[in-house]
Amino acid sequence: MKTYSCVLLLSVLYGLFSCTNQTSSSSKTPLTLKEAYKDKFLIGTALNTDHTNGSEKSTSLLIEEQFNTIVAENCMKPEEVHPSENIYDFRKADQFVEYGEKHNMFIVGHTLIWHSQVPDWFFENEDGTTCSRERLIERMREHIYTVVGRYKGRIHAWDVVNEAIDDLEGLRKSKWYQIIGEDYIELAFQFAHEADPNAELYYNDYSLILSHRREEAVKLIKKLQEKEIKVDGIGMQAHYGLDYVKIPDFERSITEFSALNIKVMLTELDISVLPFPTEKISAEISQKYEMLPEYNPYTDTLPDSIQQQLAQNYVDLFKVLLKYEDKVSRITFWGVNDEHSWRNDWPIEGRTDHPLLFDRNNQPKEAYYSIIELGEAANNTKKQVL
Ligand code: XIL
Repeated sequence: MKTYSCVLLLSVLYGLFSCTNQTSSSSKTPLTLKEAYKDKFLIGTALNTDHTNGSEKSTSLLIEEQFNTIVAENCMKPEEVHPSENIYDFRKADQFVEYGEKHNMFIVGHTLIWHSQVPDWFFENEDGTTCSRERLIERMREHIYTVVGRYKGRIHAWDVVNEAIDDLEGLRKSKWYQIIGEDYIELAFQFAHEADPNAELYYNDYSLILSHRREEAVKLIKKLQEKEIKVDGIGMQAHYGLDYVKIPDFERSITEFSALNIKVMLTELDISVLPFPTEKISAEISQKYEMLPEYNPYTDTLPDSIQQQLAQNYVDLFKVLLKYEDKVSRITFWGVNDEHSWRNDWPIEGRTDHPLLFDRNNQPKEAYYSIIELGEAANNTKKQVL
Protein backbone atom coordinates (compact mmCIF):
# COMPACT_ATOMS: atom_id res chain seq x y z
CA MET A 1 0.00 0.00 0.00
CA LYS A 2 2.81 2.33 1.06
CA THR A 3 4.78 1.56 -2.10
CA TYR A 4 1.67 2.09 -4.19
CA SER A 5 1.07 5.61 -2.73
CA CYS A 6 4.67 6.47 -3.27
CA VAL A 7 4.54 5.35 -6.90
CA LEU A 8 1.30 7.29 -7.32
CA LEU A 9 2.81 10.45 -5.87
CA LEU A 10 5.86 10.08 -8.07
CA SER A 11 3.75 9.62 -11.18
CA VAL A 12 1.65 12.70 -10.34
CA LEU A 13 4.82 14.72 -9.84
CA TYR A 14 6.30 13.30 -13.03
CA GLY A 15 3.08 14.10 -14.87
CA LEU A 16 3.16 17.69 -13.67
CA PHE A 17 6.80 18.01 -14.53
CA SER A 18 6.51 16.49 -17.98
CA CYS A 19 3.41 18.57 -18.74
CA THR A 20 5.22 21.82 -17.98
CA ASN A 21 8.08 20.51 -20.03
CA GLN A 22 5.98 19.68 -23.04
CA THR A 23 3.74 22.61 -23.69
CA SER A 24 3.78 26.27 -23.06
CA SER A 25 0.04 26.42 -22.34
CA SER A 26 -0.13 23.91 -19.51
CA SER A 27 -3.94 23.59 -19.45
CA LYS A 28 -4.33 21.95 -22.85
CA THR A 29 -3.88 18.24 -23.48
CA PRO A 30 -0.51 17.60 -25.10
CA LEU A 31 -0.76 16.66 -28.75
CA THR A 32 0.21 13.25 -30.08
CA LEU A 33 2.72 12.85 -32.90
CA LYS A 34 0.12 12.61 -35.62
CA GLU A 35 -1.71 15.63 -34.23
CA ALA A 36 1.39 17.76 -33.82
CA TYR A 37 2.28 17.19 -37.50
CA LYS A 38 -1.27 16.88 -38.81
CA ASP A 39 -1.08 19.44 -41.60
CA LYS A 40 2.44 18.56 -42.56
CA PHE A 41 3.37 14.90 -42.72
CA LEU A 42 1.86 11.50 -42.29
CA ILE A 43 3.50 10.00 -39.21
CA GLY A 44 4.03 6.28 -39.26
CA THR A 45 5.51 3.17 -37.80
CA ALA A 46 6.49 -0.32 -38.91
CA LEU A 47 4.35 -3.09 -37.46
CA ASN A 48 5.00 -6.72 -36.73
CA THR A 49 2.37 -9.37 -36.11
CA ASP A 50 2.19 -8.87 -32.35
CA HIS A 51 0.85 -5.40 -32.99
CA THR A 52 -1.93 -6.53 -35.26
CA ASN A 53 -3.04 -9.79 -33.61
CA GLY A 54 -3.96 -8.20 -30.28
CA SER A 55 -1.24 -9.88 -28.21
CA GLU A 56 0.48 -6.58 -27.35
CA LYS A 57 -2.53 -4.51 -26.39
CA SER A 58 -0.74 -1.54 -24.85
CA THR A 59 1.52 -1.15 -27.87
CA SER A 60 -1.46 -1.35 -30.22
CA LEU A 61 -3.20 1.40 -28.24
CA LEU A 62 -0.09 3.53 -28.51
CA ILE A 63 0.04 2.95 -32.27
CA GLU A 64 -3.58 3.95 -32.70
CA GLU A 65 -3.06 7.08 -30.62
CA GLN A 66 0.18 8.29 -32.21
CA PHE A 67 0.38 7.17 -35.85
CA ASN A 68 -1.73 7.55 -38.98
CA THR A 69 0.27 5.40 -41.38
CA ILE A 70 1.72 1.90 -41.08
CA VAL A 71 4.14 -0.27 -43.01
CA ALA A 72 4.68 -4.01 -42.75
CA GLU A 73 8.03 -4.68 -41.06
CA ASN A 74 8.37 -8.23 -42.42
CA CYS A 75 5.06 -9.89 -43.24
CA MET A 76 4.87 -8.80 -46.88
CA LYS A 77 8.41 -9.68 -47.89
CA PRO A 78 8.64 -12.48 -50.47
CA GLU A 79 10.09 -15.02 -47.98
CA GLU A 80 6.95 -14.56 -45.86
CA VAL A 81 4.17 -14.33 -48.44
CA HIS A 82 5.67 -16.47 -51.19
CA PRO A 83 7.93 -19.10 -49.58
CA SER A 84 7.84 -21.47 -52.56
CA GLU A 85 6.68 -21.16 -56.13
CA ASN A 86 3.20 -22.54 -55.64
CA ILE A 87 2.60 -21.40 -52.07
CA TYR A 88 1.39 -18.03 -50.96
CA ASP A 89 0.74 -17.33 -47.29
CA PHE A 90 -1.21 -14.14 -46.74
CA ARG A 91 -2.38 -14.76 -43.20
CA LYS A 92 -0.17 -12.16 -41.50
CA ALA A 93 -0.37 -9.73 -44.39
CA ASP A 94 -4.17 -9.87 -44.39
CA GLN A 95 -4.21 -9.15 -40.66
CA PHE A 96 -1.89 -6.19 -41.17
CA VAL A 97 -4.13 -4.68 -43.86
CA GLU A 98 -7.31 -5.27 -41.84
CA TYR A 99 -5.70 -3.54 -38.86
CA GLY A 100 -4.80 -0.48 -40.96
CA GLU A 101 -8.28 -0.31 -42.46
CA LYS A 102 -9.92 -0.60 -39.07
CA HIS A 103 -7.96 2.41 -37.85
CA ASN A 104 -8.21 4.44 -41.06
CA MET A 105 -4.50 4.44 -41.66
CA PHE A 106 -2.51 5.06 -44.82
CA ILE A 107 -1.19 1.57 -45.55
CA VAL A 108 2.21 0.95 -47.14
CA GLY A 109 3.23 -2.45 -48.50
CA HIS A 110 6.89 -3.36 -48.08
CA THR A 111 8.47 -4.68 -50.25
CA LEU A 112 8.09 -6.32 -53.65
CA ILE A 113 11.56 -6.61 -55.16
CA TRP A 114 14.63 -6.75 -52.92
CA HIS A 115 17.83 -8.83 -52.74
CA SER A 116 17.24 -9.78 -49.08
CA GLN A 117 14.47 -11.88 -47.53
CA VAL A 118 13.66 -13.39 -50.91
CA PRO A 119 13.70 -17.18 -51.30
CA ASP A 120 16.23 -18.79 -53.67
CA TRP A 121 13.57 -20.54 -55.69
CA PHE A 122 12.83 -17.29 -57.52
CA PHE A 123 16.22 -17.48 -59.22
CA GLU A 124 16.59 -21.21 -59.80
CA ASN A 125 15.40 -23.99 -62.08
CA GLU A 126 14.14 -27.25 -60.59
CA ASP A 127 17.68 -28.70 -60.80
CA GLY A 128 19.20 -25.80 -58.89
CA THR A 129 20.78 -24.07 -61.90
CA THR A 130 20.19 -20.37 -62.47
CA CYS A 131 16.94 -19.67 -64.29
CA SER A 132 16.66 -17.65 -67.48
CA ARG A 133 15.86 -13.94 -67.76
CA GLU A 134 12.44 -14.80 -69.25
CA ARG A 135 11.59 -17.15 -66.42
CA LEU A 136 12.59 -14.67 -63.73
CA ILE A 137 10.62 -11.88 -65.38
CA GLU A 138 7.59 -14.13 -65.50
CA ARG A 139 8.00 -15.06 -61.83
CA MET A 140 8.38 -11.41 -60.93
CA ARG A 141 5.26 -10.49 -62.88
CA GLU A 142 3.26 -13.29 -61.29
CA HIS A 143 4.49 -12.37 -57.78
CA ILE A 144 3.70 -8.68 -58.16
CA TYR A 145 0.33 -9.27 -59.82
CA THR A 146 -0.70 -11.68 -57.06
CA VAL A 147 0.50 -9.65 -54.08
CA VAL A 148 -0.42 -6.16 -55.29
CA GLY A 149 -3.60 -7.50 -56.94
CA ARG A 150 -4.80 -9.08 -53.70
CA TYR A 151 -4.79 -5.70 -51.95
CA LYS A 152 -5.84 -3.57 -54.92
CA GLY A 153 -7.58 -0.43 -53.67
CA ARG A 154 -6.72 -1.30 -50.05
CA ILE A 155 -2.96 -0.84 -49.84
CA HIS A 156 -2.34 2.80 -50.70
CA ALA A 157 1.33 2.62 -51.61
CA TRP A 158 4.08 0.09 -52.31
CA ASP A 159 7.83 0.07 -51.82
CA VAL A 160 8.24 -1.52 -55.23
CA VAL A 161 12.01 -1.84 -55.38
CA ASN A 162 14.19 -1.77 -52.28
CA GLU A 163 17.95 -1.12 -52.12
CA ALA A 164 18.90 -1.40 -55.79
CA ILE A 165 21.94 0.84 -55.39
CA ASP A 166 25.38 -0.60 -54.73
CA ASP A 167 27.45 0.50 -51.74
CA LEU A 168 30.48 1.26 -53.90
CA GLU A 169 29.17 2.33 -57.28
CA GLY A 170 26.34 1.97 -59.73
CA LEU A 171 23.52 -0.46 -59.23
CA ARG A 172 23.75 -3.42 -56.85
CA LYS A 173 24.65 -6.63 -58.64
CA SER A 174 21.80 -8.54 -57.05
CA LYS A 175 20.38 -11.71 -58.57
CA TRP A 176 17.59 -9.59 -60.06
CA TYR A 177 20.20 -7.46 -61.79
CA GLN A 178 22.43 -10.32 -62.85
CA ILE A 179 19.71 -12.46 -64.36
CA ILE A 180 17.36 -9.85 -65.81
CA GLY A 181 19.65 -6.85 -66.33
CA GLU A 182 19.09 -3.32 -65.07
CA ASP A 183 15.63 -3.11 -66.62
CA TYR A 184 14.37 -5.30 -63.77
CA ILE A 185 13.65 -2.03 -61.97
CA GLU A 186 11.38 -0.61 -64.63
CA LEU A 187 9.68 -3.97 -65.11
CA ALA A 188 8.87 -4.13 -61.40
CA PHE A 189 7.32 -0.65 -61.48
CA GLN A 190 5.42 -1.44 -64.65
CA PHE A 191 3.97 -4.68 -63.21
CA ALA A 192 3.00 -2.96 -59.95
CA HIS A 193 1.23 -0.23 -61.88
CA GLU A 194 -0.62 -2.77 -64.00
CA ALA A 195 -1.69 -4.66 -60.88
CA ASP A 196 -3.10 -1.58 -59.14
CA PRO A 197 -3.15 1.57 -61.28
CA ASN A 198 -4.16 3.76 -58.32
CA ALA A 199 -1.51 2.68 -55.82
CA GLU A 200 1.42 5.01 -55.22
CA LEU A 201 4.73 3.44 -56.18
CA TYR A 202 8.00 4.15 -54.41
CA TYR A 203 11.70 3.48 -54.71
CA ASN A 204 13.23 2.88 -51.25
CA ASP A 205 16.89 2.77 -50.17
CA TYR A 206 19.33 3.43 -47.34
CA SER A 207 22.16 5.95 -46.87
CA LEU A 208 20.70 8.26 -49.51
CA ILE A 209 22.52 11.15 -47.87
CA LEU A 210 25.85 9.82 -49.17
CA SER A 211 26.73 11.62 -52.37
CA HIS A 212 27.24 8.64 -54.69
CA ARG A 213 24.06 6.97 -53.49
CA ARG A 214 22.14 10.23 -53.85
CA GLU A 215 23.42 10.68 -57.43
CA GLU A 216 22.61 7.11 -58.32
CA ALA A 217 19.08 7.44 -56.92
CA VAL A 218 18.49 10.61 -58.93
CA LYS A 219 19.68 8.77 -62.07
CA LEU A 220 17.42 5.82 -61.32
CA ILE A 221 14.30 7.97 -60.87
CA LYS A 222 15.08 10.09 -63.94
CA LYS A 223 15.46 6.98 -66.03
CA LEU A 224 12.05 5.72 -64.96
CA GLN A 225 10.54 9.12 -65.68
CA GLU A 226 12.15 9.32 -69.13
CA LYS A 227 10.55 6.01 -69.95
CA GLU A 228 7.23 7.29 -68.60
CA ILE A 229 7.10 4.63 -65.93
CA LYS A 230 4.98 5.68 -62.97
CA VAL A 231 7.06 6.41 -59.87
CA ASP A 232 5.47 8.53 -57.14
CA GLY A 233 8.06 8.82 -54.45
CA ILE A 234 11.43 8.07 -52.98
CA GLY A 235 11.88 6.60 -49.53
CA MET A 236 15.00 7.54 -47.58
CA GLN A 237 15.20 4.70 -45.06
CA ALA A 238 17.07 6.78 -42.46
CA HIS A 239 18.64 4.12 -40.24
CA TYR A 240 20.98 6.52 -38.50
CA GLY A 241 23.22 6.72 -35.45
CA LEU A 242 24.07 9.50 -32.98
CA ASP A 243 25.69 12.41 -34.81
CA TYR A 244 25.94 10.36 -37.99
CA VAL A 245 23.90 12.67 -40.19
CA LYS A 246 25.55 15.72 -41.67
CA ILE A 247 22.62 18.08 -41.91
CA PRO A 248 23.72 19.78 -45.19
CA ASP A 249 23.91 16.33 -46.86
CA PHE A 250 20.48 15.42 -45.54
CA GLU A 251 19.06 18.70 -46.78
CA ARG A 252 20.69 18.31 -50.17
CA SER A 253 19.13 14.89 -50.68
CA ILE A 254 15.69 16.23 -49.85
CA THR A 255 16.03 19.14 -52.27
CA GLU A 256 17.49 17.07 -55.10
CA PHE A 257 14.87 14.35 -54.77
CA SER A 258 11.98 16.76 -54.54
CA ALA A 259 13.27 18.58 -57.64
CA LEU A 260 12.30 15.40 -59.49
CA ASN A 261 8.66 16.18 -58.66
CA ILE A 262 8.13 13.10 -56.58
CA LYS A 263 7.21 12.69 -52.93
CA VAL A 264 10.11 12.48 -50.50
CA MET A 265 9.70 10.37 -47.38
CA LEU A 266 11.69 9.13 -44.41
CA THR A 267 10.54 5.55 -44.42
CA GLU A 268 12.49 3.63 -41.75
CA LEU A 269 13.68 6.22 -39.27
CA ASP A 270 15.66 5.17 -36.21
CA ILE A 271 18.75 6.59 -34.49
CA SER A 272 20.92 4.02 -32.77
CA VAL A 273 22.66 5.25 -29.61
CA LEU A 274 25.23 2.43 -29.70
CA PRO A 275 28.74 2.47 -31.16
CA PHE A 276 28.73 1.40 -34.79
CA PRO A 277 31.45 -1.23 -35.26
CA THR A 278 32.68 -0.07 -38.68
CA GLU A 279 33.25 2.97 -40.83
CA LYS A 280 31.16 1.32 -43.52
CA ILE A 281 27.82 2.83 -42.63
CA SER A 282 24.85 1.35 -44.43
CA ALA A 283 21.72 -0.59 -43.55
CA GLU A 284 22.62 -3.73 -45.46
CA ILE A 285 20.96 -6.40 -43.32
CA SER A 286 23.65 -9.01 -44.05
CA GLN A 287 26.28 -6.80 -42.34
CA LYS A 288 27.06 -8.60 -39.04
CA TYR A 289 29.72 -8.02 -36.41
CA GLU A 290 30.87 -9.83 -33.30
CA MET A 291 29.51 -8.66 -29.95
CA LEU A 292 32.11 -7.13 -27.64
CA PRO A 293 31.16 -5.64 -24.25
CA GLU A 294 32.17 -2.10 -25.30
CA TYR A 295 29.58 -2.26 -28.07
CA ASN A 296 26.74 -2.72 -25.59
CA PRO A 297 27.09 0.03 -22.96
CA TYR A 298 23.45 0.77 -22.01
CA THR A 299 21.94 -2.55 -21.02
CA ASP A 300 20.03 -1.14 -18.03
CA THR A 301 19.08 2.44 -18.67
CA LEU A 302 20.06 5.18 -21.02
CA PRO A 303 21.98 7.97 -19.26
CA ASP A 304 20.34 11.41 -19.34
CA SER A 305 23.15 12.88 -21.40
CA ILE A 306 22.52 10.31 -24.15
CA GLN A 307 18.74 10.82 -23.95
CA GLN A 308 19.40 14.48 -24.59
CA GLN A 309 21.79 13.79 -27.43
CA LEU A 310 19.22 11.49 -29.02
CA ALA A 311 16.53 14.14 -28.64
CA GLN A 312 18.78 16.76 -30.21
CA ASN A 313 19.56 14.45 -33.15
CA TYR A 314 15.85 13.95 -33.79
CA VAL A 315 15.17 17.68 -33.47
CA ASP A 316 17.95 18.48 -35.95
CA LEU A 317 16.35 16.16 -38.51
CA PHE A 318 12.82 17.37 -37.87
CA LYS A 319 13.88 21.01 -38.26
CA VAL A 320 15.02 20.23 -41.80
CA LEU A 321 11.89 18.20 -42.48
CA LEU A 322 9.76 21.14 -41.35
CA LYS A 323 11.73 23.48 -43.56
CA TYR A 324 10.73 21.29 -46.51
CA GLU A 325 7.27 20.41 -45.27
CA ASP A 326 5.74 20.98 -48.70
CA LYS A 327 8.11 18.42 -50.22
CA VAL A 328 8.20 15.76 -47.51
CA SER A 329 5.01 13.73 -47.30
CA ARG A 330 5.62 11.08 -44.65
CA ILE A 331 7.91 10.22 -41.75
CA THR A 332 7.79 6.58 -40.68
CA PHE A 333 9.71 5.20 -37.71
CA TRP A 334 11.04 1.65 -38.04
CA GLY A 335 9.23 0.24 -35.05
CA VAL A 336 7.12 1.46 -32.16
CA ASN A 337 9.27 1.09 -29.06
CA ASP A 338 12.90 0.30 -28.23
CA GLU A 339 12.10 -3.27 -27.22
CA HIS A 340 11.12 -4.47 -30.63
CA SER A 341 13.49 -2.35 -32.73
CA TRP A 342 15.59 -4.32 -35.21
CA ARG A 343 18.56 -2.18 -34.10
CA ASN A 344 18.90 -4.45 -31.01
CA ASP A 345 20.13 -7.12 -33.43
CA TRP A 346 21.70 -5.19 -36.26
CA PRO A 347 24.56 -4.95 -37.04
CA ILE A 348 25.44 -6.86 -33.84
CA GLU A 349 23.05 -9.39 -32.39
CA GLY A 350 21.73 -9.21 -28.85
CA ARG A 351 22.44 -5.61 -27.88
CA THR A 352 20.20 -3.20 -25.97
CA ASP A 353 19.61 -0.22 -28.22
CA HIS A 354 17.36 2.80 -27.60
CA PRO A 355 16.74 4.26 -31.06
CA LEU A 356 13.05 5.19 -31.03
CA LEU A 357 10.75 7.69 -29.33
CA PHE A 358 9.18 5.23 -26.86
CA ASP A 359 11.10 3.15 -24.33
CA ARG A 360 10.65 -0.53 -23.49
CA ASN A 361 7.57 0.25 -21.40
CA ASN A 362 6.01 2.35 -24.15
CA GLN A 363 6.82 5.51 -22.21
CA PRO A 364 7.66 8.60 -24.27
CA LYS A 365 11.32 9.58 -24.14
CA GLU A 366 12.83 13.04 -24.14
CA ALA A 367 13.14 12.78 -27.92
CA TYR A 368 9.36 12.37 -28.14
CA TYR A 369 8.65 15.49 -26.09
CA SER A 370 11.19 17.52 -28.05
CA ILE A 371 9.63 16.58 -31.35
CA ILE A 372 6.12 17.35 -30.12
CA GLU A 373 7.31 20.70 -28.82
CA LEU A 374 8.92 21.49 -32.15
CA GLY A 375 5.74 20.56 -34.05
CA GLU A 376 3.61 22.70 -31.76
CA ALA A 377 5.97 25.64 -32.09
CA ALA A 378 5.84 25.31 -35.89
CA ASN A 379 2.03 25.27 -35.79
CA ASN A 380 1.95 28.37 -33.61
CA THR A 381 4.37 30.29 -35.83
CA LYS A 382 2.25 29.47 -38.83
CA LYS A 383 -0.91 30.64 -37.11
CA GLN A 384 0.74 33.96 -36.26
CA VAL A 385 1.88 34.46 -39.85
CA LEU A 386 -1.65 33.81 -41.09
C1 XIL B 1 14.44 -5.58 -41.13
C2 XIL B 1 13.43 -6.01 -40.06
O1 XIL B 1 13.21 -4.91 -39.22
C3 XIL B 1 13.97 -7.17 -39.28
O2 XIL B 1 12.98 -7.65 -38.37
C4 XIL B 1 14.39 -8.30 -40.23
O3 XIL B 1 14.98 -9.33 -39.48
C5 XIL B 1 15.36 -7.80 -41.27
O4 XIL B 1 14.78 -6.70 -41.96
N1 XIL B 1 15.91 -2.12 -44.56
C6 XIL B 1 14.65 -2.54 -44.90
C7 XIL B 1 13.84 -3.30 -43.94
O5 XIL B 1 14.15 -2.15 -45.98
O6 XIL B 1 12.97 -4.22 -44.56
C8 XIL B 1 14.72 -4.03 -42.93
O7 XIL B 1 13.86 -4.59 -41.95
C9 XIL B 1 15.72 -3.07 -42.31
C10 XIL B 1 16.61 -2.49 -43.36
